[in-house]
Amino acid sequence: MEQPGGIAGLRHSRIAGTGRYLPERVLTNQDLERMVDTTDEWIRTRTGMERRHMAADEQASSDLAVPAARAALEAANCSPDEIDLVVVGTTTPDLVFPNVGCLVQKALEIPPCAAFSCEAACTGWLYGMSVADGMIRLGRASKALVVGVEVLSRITDWSDRSTCVLFGDGAGAVVLEPAEEPGLMSFILGADGNYVDILRSRAGVSRNPAELGDGGLAVRMKGNEVFKIAVRTMGRTVDQLLERHGLDRGAIDWLIPHQANLRIIQAIGKRLRLPDERVVLTVQDHGNTGAASIPLALDVAIRDGRIRRGQRIMMVSFGGGLTWAAGLMQF
Ligand code: UT7
Repeated sequence: MEQPGGIAGLRHSRIAGTGRYLPERVLTNQDLERMVDTTDEWIRTRTGMERRHMAADEQASSDLAVPAARAALEAANCSPDEIDLVVVGTTTPDLVFPNVGCLVQKALEIPPCAAFSCEAACTGWLYGMSVADGMIRLGRASKALVVGVEVLSRITDWSDRSTCVLFGDGAGAVVLEPAEEPGLMSFILGADGNYVDILRSRAGVSRNPAELGDGGLAVRMKGNEVFKIAVRTMGRTVDQLLERHGLDRGAIDWLIPHQANLRIIQAIGKRLRLPDERVVLTVQDHGNTGAASIPLALDVAIRDGRIRRGQRIMMVSFGGGLTWAAGLMQF
């Protein structure tokens, strides 16, 4: 709904606060060695991962999203009543409907407003950020809660060593507020449906529902192909975004990439001519948490004091679809 008044003259949005939640249970590479034919050494050298968090049986995506959102609201000094837009990027909604945005809205007692989830696999949070930023700029929202959350352990085939070592569960959230200066500078969103087959599940709701309970929901990935396209596409997208703003490759203070693989992350960091210490890495501790990976990493680096107000941050993601996105912001 159009929000009359209140934000006249404010044409940008900025992050007011961030939060995260990781489920208690940790699955290490050594645990995985006991489950499938793999080694700690293979996982570390091929992916950079050492451990990942797993949701408890009774925890669904909204149960992870809510504490992350609470932490973001607290950091933003914002009461739930002030939120008038909820967007949740996720591949693993609690239910087909109502969407996770509505479940989060209810749990936090956010008053009636637009609430929806954004389905773009690992890119879902950046897609959601772009939508929320646009709505604030247009005056259609004033304060937005944007969450990335996944319980990827529910759509993992635990007998497939090529994928089960990769994924983790978690949630990251931000509160966006109007600002006179950016804030969020701009986004590039992209997708190419010609690649639907290299990263997908077999079954869903209206396609192959009979396979739903038979491993049909599990992630299937041609990892090697995805790897090459991820490096190429994320590299090209960050270049396009820098060019749009007339910025050199060295003009970025921090890179926060999707945390799918250390080798992919290093390739993007090198392209941006960033020293390793300017690239936020959580892949070793969180694994690949899909749409949650960038907001989780953002919150880690803000709370440990690395990212400071005024610094320029490049975020870039890639996932099933194939989808990709980059976002540039001044924190
Ligand atoms: O978040 C969405 C986007 N996702 C990504 O960006 C992921 C992109 N892909 C990747 O990160 C990498 O391709 C993987 C980490 C998934 C795989 O690494 P890779 O270096 O591409 O390995 P590979 O698939 O080429 O497999 C190499 C070998 C194979 O054995 P052979 O055929 O060479 O004998 C695999 O069977 O490694 C074997 N392998 C494993 N060995 C031990 C595959 N998984 C494992 C495993 N442990 N867990």
